[in-house]
Amino acid sequence: MARSPRHVIRAAVAADAPGIADVCTRAYRATYRDLLPSSFVEDVITRFYDEDRVRSEVAPAPPHWLGYVVAAAGSPGERGSVLGAAGGAITGEGVGELYVLYLDPDRRGEGIGTRLLDHVTVQLRDHGAREMWVSVAEGNDRGVPFYRARGFVERGRVPMHTSEVSDGLWSLRMFRPLGGG
Ligand SMILES: CC(C)(COP(=O)(O)OP(=O)(O)OC[C@H]1O[C@@H](n2cnc3c(N)ncnc32)[C@H](O)[C@@H]1OP(=O)(O)O)[C@@H](O)C(=O)NCCC(=O)NCCS
Repeated sequence: MARSPRHVIRAAVAADAPGIADVCTRAYRATYRDLLPSSFVEDVITRFYDEDRVRSEVAPAPPHWLGYVVAAAGSPGERGSVLGAAGGAITGEGVGELYVLYLDPDRRGEGIGTRLLDHVTVQLRDHGAREMWVSVAEGNDRGVPFYRARGFVERGRVPMHTSEVSDGLWSLRMFRPLGGG
């Protein structure tokens, strides 16, 4: 378990579901409200970050879902509030995918996102991934520079999935190799 004086990175438990749903909802709105149609934003939030759905997905179901990981305020053992959430999966032989990475919008730039990314990266490596992928909405100026700063490069773009109102919206596919280090 990774630690710092102000937060801990750990596997989520069921009691974290409301906090994960809240952080993902607030971060998704803050990130995309000026970029994507509000109907699309609200549709994604309703479908993916509904508290019951999050609760049902907290636990790992490897290799297709390695479980939610959270950054929680406070020290190990405390049940501090959820500051950020992430999760990944193995999608093919040696191929890892980061599905979720969201942070309390007021806590950006403190290194918490990097520590969540590092935790998921270790999980993916432990499950045999030699490369890591993430989809980021084209124009997401909070996400794309972060992934570039962490060694990801763009490898094309794909239509956004998830919704009947997603016509004309694109995600960048970003890639980085997972070496030994
Ligand atoms: C992306 C996100 C998870 C990053 O978490 P974070 O805790 O803010 O990031 P960190 O503090 O760990 O690291 C930020 C790094 O990205 C870089 N970065 C971030 N924004 C940048 C920008 N606009 N231009 C250049 N670099 C940028 C910083 O320089 C820093 O790298 P450095 O430490 O090497 O200087 C967080 O900002 C977030 O939730 N964003 C909104 C949601 C989102 O876009 N999620 C990804 C969707 S797939």
